[in-house]
Amino acid sequence: MEFSSADDRLLATHSPQAAAIVQLFESTLVICGVIFLIVVGLVAFCVWHFRARGVKEPAQTEGNRKLEVAWTLVPVGVLVWLLVLTSRAMAVADPPVDRVPDLTIVAHQWWWEARYPSGAVTANEIHIPTGRALVVQVLSEDVVHDFWVPALGRKVDAIPGRATNIWLEADDPGLYLGTCAEFCGAQHAWMRIRVIAEAPHDFTVWEQRAAAPAPPPVTAPATRGLATFRAKACIGCHAIRGVSTARTAPDLTRLAERATLGAGVIDNSPAELERWLKDPQKIKAGCHMPNAKLSDDALSDVVAYLETLK
Ligand code: CUA
Repeated sequence: MEFSSADDRLLATHSPQAAAIVQLFESTLVICGVIFLIVVGLVAFCVWHFRARGVKEPAQTEGNRKLEVAWTLVPVGVLVWLLVLTSRAMAVADPPVDRVPDLTIVAHQWWWEARYPSGAVTANEIHIPTGRALVVQVLSEDVVHDFWVPALGRKVDAIPGRATNIWLEADDPGLYLGTCAEFCGAQHAWMRIRVIAEAPHDFTVWEQRAAAPAPPPVTAPATRGLATFRAKACIGCHAIRGVSTARTAPDLTRLAERATLGAGVIDNSPAELERWLKDPQKIKAGCHMPNAKLSDDALSDVVAYLETLK
């Protein structure tokens, strides 16, 4: 299924977890807004009412028990109210995890790896079934990153050496955009996340296809492209199911199905893929993919092969 646009309304929510967070934000905003108006109103009243009019000294008073009790108890009550609202939101948005993860997301400089128990592995595009709360384990391969898809739920740090968990759920099929939310180096801005939520049946079909070996090349250029992939440095970092198993770099088994390259930095089209392979550093400076220095012929063969990976 193709999803080209996402719901980009501010504070749009598409899961019970995100809805709880946005409701908490809105309640807090209203409560704090009312307090702000009361304080500003009283300050404005005092400035106006007690402005200098002659030299008369105002009446001096000392202590007011009723007032002191009120301005102690009312703020305590407001804080307790906010605490209750926050606890209720946390119970919905971030309940304890009670089972093994349904999905593992590994953050890398600068891309996301998604690993499914079925063996399917993908990068930067995370497929999930709708209407099911998934337990997602978030890991990091290098530095601290932060996984965040605002329409679906809370942020969570990806910490090297420590697994963290979140719940990920989408009410409706669609594309949900997210990004790394913790500065993690030069290309932090290009660590985009595309969550693709599909009806459970469509998700199962996708997952089975993603877990299957990559289709073998049939045309002559694609066959030469695969030979080049095997002969050059590509095979040392990239996995293609049935061809190679390295996992330093994004799994390419279904590369041609993805919408973007370099975690969102360019669109995934044959022309852009060729531009990327020619010199990744020109497009995403500092990324860990070197220039393989392929000849123009080898380049178009490799593109021909990679375009069959769907
Ligand atoms: Cu990864 Cu910022």
